[in-house]
Amino acid sequence: MASYKVFFALAIISSLVALCCAHKSPTGNAQEFVKFSYSGSLGPENWASLSSAFELCGKGSHQSPINIDCKAAVHDSSLQCLKRDYVAANATLVNNGFNIGLVYTSEAGSLVISGKKYSLKHLRWHSPSEHTLDGERFPFEVNLIHESKDGNVAIVSILYRYGNADPFLLQITDKLDQLAKASCSEDQEARISAGLVHSRSLKLSTRKYYRYVGSLTTPPCTENVVWNILSEVRTLSKEQGDALRAPLVGDYQKNSRPIQPLNGRVVQVYDKVTNVKTN
Ligand SMILES: *[C@@H]1O[C@H](CO)[C@@H](O)[C@H](O)[C@H]1NC(C)=O
Repeated sequence: MASYKVFFALAIISSLVALCCAHKSPTGNAQEFVKFSYSGSLGPENWASLSSAFELCGKGSHQSPINIDCKAAVHDSSLQCLKRDYVAANATLVNNGFNIGLVYTSEAGSLVISGKKYSLKHLRWHSPSEHTLDGERFPFEVNLIHESKDGNVAIVSILYRYGNADPFLLQITDKLDQLAKASCSEDQEARISAGLVHSRSLKLSTRKYYRYVGSLTTPPCTENVVWNILSEVRTLSKEQGDALRAPLVGDYQKNSRPIQPLNGRVVQVYDKVTNVKTN
């Protein structure tokens, strides 16, 4: 009897220690926190007017997301297979109120594009997908955000439809449930340690991808982001989708920015099969 009480006391203490609320800074720096949303007066059409730091959300000409017209994508023989090497790393799950993310707290591996190394820093989920393929929108999209030493950003993006469970998410489902129970105030974000996370499953099947230069899809909409959208759509279970949305409140359960104009940009495609045939 007494040992049960001790067990429960410890369980409560450890969950209190693991979960915490921290002040928000979605722009990634010490700037004052500015609230934005996905509809109404704080919605995407008005992001640029919410803060001078968000100017590019309105004025930028290379914005994301976009629709990918698969047939119009240009084969470029200089593109190479996405060289990624991910390792198991410790991570923290974060609900910043706008989306659910996973921030690696130890070295998680890297992606090499044109000889330049980008380190995997964090993941971010959006629902429904922000990018569309031939106009088709999917239930989820995950952005694998990589940064180079000189501050450039490269994102690998994976689209999901409902089906079999996603092996990556299986590792963090119970943490997502705990995150959903966290009650932090509006100007705070909830954080919970996810422990050691294996990212190997995220680097499979990159035989074909679409590349273009765009922006972050949330304010401050910073440009010069190298996007790599995997052609193969993966699956997650309905339960996993619900678990990813549950920690977000109301409006933010749908956190997809509208499609942005291409403004003359060309989307390139790398297809291993075609590249082998023509080389
Ligand atoms: C992850 O964190 C644990 C506990 O702090 C530590 O023992 C372990 O070495 C860390 N692993 C990595 C890969 O950093």
